[in-house]
Amino acid sequence: MHFLSLLTALILALFSPLASAANYTNPLKTTDGSDPHIAWSGGYYYLMTTTWSNLQITRATTLNGLKSGEKRTVWTDATASRCCNVWAPELHYLDGAWYIYYTAGNSANLDGQRSHVLKGGATPWDPFTYLAQLTSTWGIDGTILRFSTWGNYFVYSCFSGSLQSLCIAPLTSPGKLGASKVLSTPTNAWERVGNPVMEGPAAMYHGGTTYLSYSASYCWTSSYSLGLLTWNGSGDPSLSASWSKSGPWLTSANGNYGPGHNGFFQSPDGTEIWNVYHATSNSAGACDGSRYTMAQKVNWNANGTPNFGSPARLGTSYVGPLGE
Ligand SMILES: *[C@@H]1O[C@H](CO)[C@@H](O)[C@H](O)[C@H]1NC(C)=O
Ligand SMILES: *[C@@H]1O[C@H](CO)[C@@H](O)[C@H](O)[C@H]1NC(C)=O
Repeated sequence: MHFLSLLTALILALFSPLASAANYTNPLKTTDGSDPHIAWSGGYYYLMTTTWSNLQITRATTLNGLKSGEKRTVWTDATASRCCNVWAPELHYLDGAWYIYYTAGNSANLDGQRSHVLKGGATPWDPFTYLAQLTSTWGIDGTILRFSTWGNYFVYSCFSGSLQSLCIAPLTSPGKLGASKVLSTPTNAWERVGNPVMEGPAAMYHGGTTYLSYSASYCWTSSYSLGLLTWNGSGDPSLSASWSKSGPWLTSANGNYGPGHNGFFQSPDGTEIWNVYHATSNSAGACDGSRYTMAQKVNWNANGTPNFGSPARLGTSYVGPLGE
């Protein structure tokens, strides 16, 4: 190594904030912490959760800082068809702008739940305007799944007959879907406790492999947990035959029940993948605002598969994402 670059490396190692991380404890959000999603961008974590009535973003420069971060309500909507039961918001960056994909419906019941998208600006802190309704039938918890060769897809929870399943459609533009197909149905016993359910999909990319996590079983049970679909690397991603299913991975532990509906985000230094999810202290499980937000690092097994660990007792001190 050249002397000057060695010197530069030493100086960087000594003084760069990228060499350290602040500690944090769970939960990051104590109530209305359901369906969490975090994006890291431009020096901030941006956290969104289900609040039922509107869309809110909390931002902070450290994970622990989200507990008392700056908060902004970015969307309320009086339109009858999408006024209410506002669920599962996620921030995604596409074609130079941030978008919020979310679920909303009418006030009468949950049969009107549809997927919608707002368009924002160059940072997640810019204002949002309504862009489009994405599904014409019941469709919740939508997320973006990206492929370098196949393009972008929208994956969401849909009904296949009586089975709450995962559907997939090409995202032809940020506000428009191509034809939807059923990607996977809840066929394993651990996906059918209470009700057969697959929901809350989240994409993860690591070591050249593309994964889709999802939440399995009914949320009012302690069996709500994470399952995993792994893409085979070559087949059409909209065909279930191109994916293999495994699970359950993240399950109830240490007084945290029904861990699930997760999102993935990168550490500020880009070297780690983190998992943000909700759980409840109710041993019967919960689908309501009692759920709190937890985060922990994704580890990797020797054979390259992800290890989601288990939810630690609340208040356990962890080293935060590298680069904070
Ligand atoms: C991937 O899945 C497709 C089916 O969609 C199959 O035709 C192909 O052989 C599979 N490839 C590998 C490497 O398993
Ligand atoms: C930070 O977390 C680490 C790992 O969990 C722990 O060993 C350490 O005691 C924590 N530090 C503080 C100040 O809590």
